[in-house]
Amino acid sequence: MLDLKRIRQDFPILQEKINGYPLAYLDNAATTQKPRLVVEKMRHFYYHDNANIHRGFHTLAERATAAYEKVRQEVARFLGAKTEEIIFVRNTTEAINLVAFTWGRKFLQSGDRILLTEMEHHANIVPWLILQQEKGFEIEYLPFDEEGELNRHQLRQILSQGPPPKLFAFTHASNVLGTINPLRQLSALVQPYGTKILLDAAQSIAHQRFNLQRQQIDFLAFSGHKIYGPTGVGVLWVRQEILEQLPPFLGGGGMIEEVGWENFKPLQGPGKFEAGTPSIAAVIGLGAALEYLSQWEEEDLFAWEKELTAYAYQQLQELPGLKILGPGAGKERAPLIAFSWEGFHGHDLTTVLDTLGVAVRAGHHCAMPLHRKLGLTSSTRASFAFYNQKEEIDRLLEGLKKARQILAGRIR
Ligand SMILES: Cc1ncc(COP(=O)(O)O)c(C=O)c1O
Repeated sequence: MLDLKRIRQDFPILQEKINGYPLAYLDNAATTQKPRLVVEKMRHFYYHDNANIHRGFHTLAERATAAYEKVRQEVARFLGAKTEEIIFVRNTTEAINLVAFTWGRKFLQSGDRILLTEMEHHANIVPWLILQQEKGFEIEYLPFDEEGELNRHQLRQILSQGPPPKLFAFTHASNVLGTINPLRQLSALVQPYGTKILLDAAQSIAHQRFNLQRQQIDFLAFSGHKIYGPTGVGVLWVRQEILEQLPPFLGGGGMIEEVGWENFKPLQGPGKFEAGTPSIAAVIGLGAALEYLSQWEEEDLFAWEKELTAYAYQQLQELPGLKILGPGAGKERAPLIAFSWEGFHGHDLTTVLDTLGVAVRAGHHCAMPLHRKLGLTSSTRASFAFYNQKEEIDRLLEGLKKARQILAGRIR
């Protein structure tokens, strides 16, 4: 059983009052709140260990380097991966750009195809569109159906017609539909074609565990801030055989073995992709977030998130005119629910909810093509973490009813 009271005390911001009400933070898909341990470890780093890494021989430089590299090992353990496969970046967006502008630039050319899905975040569309302008390969989008599920029949068709896609890059969990894409089945389908797989784990990293030794994927990207860590750090995991073939991403200090006027020799391993001074303190904070999580039974955390999501789903679907996007009642989904409500604009709803201390998000959630497919320009999204309570969902519902009262006269 989760000790929710203790958990909530570990996250100081949850005691905040917003417009006179206790904060009900239901915007966890955008960013999660940080436990005290994360903030304290970063503070400790700045007060006691701060120095630049990798290049100094004084005590602080050695301490800072050791602390930074220790987190690489911890992240590797967390993902069931090798330490040499962990590259620190700023966020998921940078991780995907890194893959596009190293692997993609080297291996994709005119006549090639890559496959994305219709439910991608802009972070997994725009880098490929930029590279496409340079290289002229084709991009196909695997559709999703009314239940928000990827069409596997169409995937088989795409695979059997024409040259197999060189890459299948898809989100593990949709940040709008909440769909959790079946990683094992999808990778089993494309693997025989030699298609590389990039998994955008931004929305799944905090809600399930990976063992990458056993998964048939090649790249995985996530952001520290979505798993209770600080902003400014993310992770790109690249399977070692592939990492060794990649050209550098950014050039500069920190990523080289030797530099001359005419040429340079890059480092081997993850350091090759970490040019310049990295977000050292943020990396320390990410390590602290993983340490914080390790004290809880993950099954308990995930079970509670599922219960909260089902509780919210059941109540939201009873509001007349409100349409929940993505998988239907009882189906598996990430702990987030986005909806459209006929006659009401999401920005008005979120403004009223904010006056009551309830934080949710409205907009296109960086998924404009997805919304366009659904005939929408935006949606309103509530998203949950294990520190949320049912009472906060009740307040969301009360707030929505109040918003309906206030706005009905004005809009309808
Ligand atoms: C599915 C998905 N991919 C990528 C991102 C981008 O994450 P970041 O802004 O941390 O780079 C997000 C952020 O919401 C996301 O939900």
